[in-house]
Amino acid sequence: MASKTEELRQRVLSEIEGVRSVKALSELKVAYLGKNGAIKALLRGMKDIPAENRAEFGKAVNELSDDVSALFEQKEAALKKKELQEKFASQAVDITLPGKRPLSGGLHPLTIVKNKIIDAFIGMGFEIFEGPEIDSDYYCFQALNIPKDHPARDMQDTFYFTDNILLRPHTSPGQVRSMEKGKLPIKILSPGRVYRADDDASHSPMFHQIEGLVVDKGVSLCDLKGLLDEFVRVIFDGDTETRFRPSYFPFTEPSVEVDVTCCKCHGKGCGLCKGTGWIEILGAGVVNKNVLKMSGIDPDIYSGLAFGLGIERVTMIKYGIPDIRTLFESNLKFLEQFDRR
Ligand code: DAH
Repeated sequence: MASKTEELRQRVLSEIEGVRSVKALSELKVAYLGKNGAIKALLRGMKDIPAENRAEFGKAVNELSDDVSALFEQKEAALKKKELQEKFASQAVDITLPGKRPLSGGLHPLTIVKNKIIDAFIGMGFEIFEGPEIDSDYYCFQALNIPKDHPARDMQDTFYFTDNILLRPHTSPGQVRSMEKGKLPIKILSPGRVYRADDDASHSPMFHQIEGLVVDKGVSLCDLKGLLDEFVRVIFDGDTETRFRPSYFPFTEPSVEVDVTCCKCHGKGCGLCKGTGWIEILGAGVVNKNVLKMSGIDPDIYSGLAFGLGIERVTMIKYGIPDIRTLFESNLKFLEQFDRR
């Protein structure tokens, strides 16, 4: 008799042992402790047991029922704990992993440099004056002392719409338009896109220039030197120097080309500056009297200074960029290297 309950106890023990989930355990619990379960079946078999043994058998079955209930409870608690631990482990976050930063936008290097240049000149009292990108032969050439058939027209390969309408090849027409307004003195900066039929590692068909013009009484080449020294100090660093080399532009007389000490070798001579220690950065000069006259300014009373620089060129020198085209390829690997603020 006792062997029946004992046998059931062993079976329950070994089956509970093998259970791996709370769900399977509750099914097993029904099979043993439920209304139609194995333990109740034992009680139902009581009638077949000799009367003198019934009390003992009943006691053994009750004990078994209590023990099995306790076993199920223990096992259920253990399984629940294990399942919770597994859930936590599967949801665990490794806080030592590097985070994924959202991609944030930033300013293009040309915009960074343009803003720096504008800031430098605004600090010296300049105002922004913007001209049109599609302009006339008069503003782009004639009013700048470059008449038709003048050899200086070959200095730029211009895109023409008609004989008279063209994509401006430089920002110098901004000088003429600001002088025509008739308000003196003038101290303007004219930034914008310019276009030329030219395309290689150092030329792009579209690029950016900034034109500067000062017209006042007694303006001279010395003022130009002072302005450009300050500009170079802000854009490069305090040690960068400028030098003027005589040059030729139809709209300035005298004309100069301005060099800065090479930012890579600081004047010692390297591959970037071709061993000279200097890099050409812009063209400038004293405004040609003809140009003042054509725009209605009396050159006996007023004089002017002008300069024109390429933003791409300054950017390439400042950051050591060998090919202008990288500035227009929208390659994030390249662009992300710059100060993104
Ligand atoms: N316009 C010239 C160019 O595109 C640059 C330049 C040179 C502008 C001398 C000036 C200047 O105002 O004085 O090459």
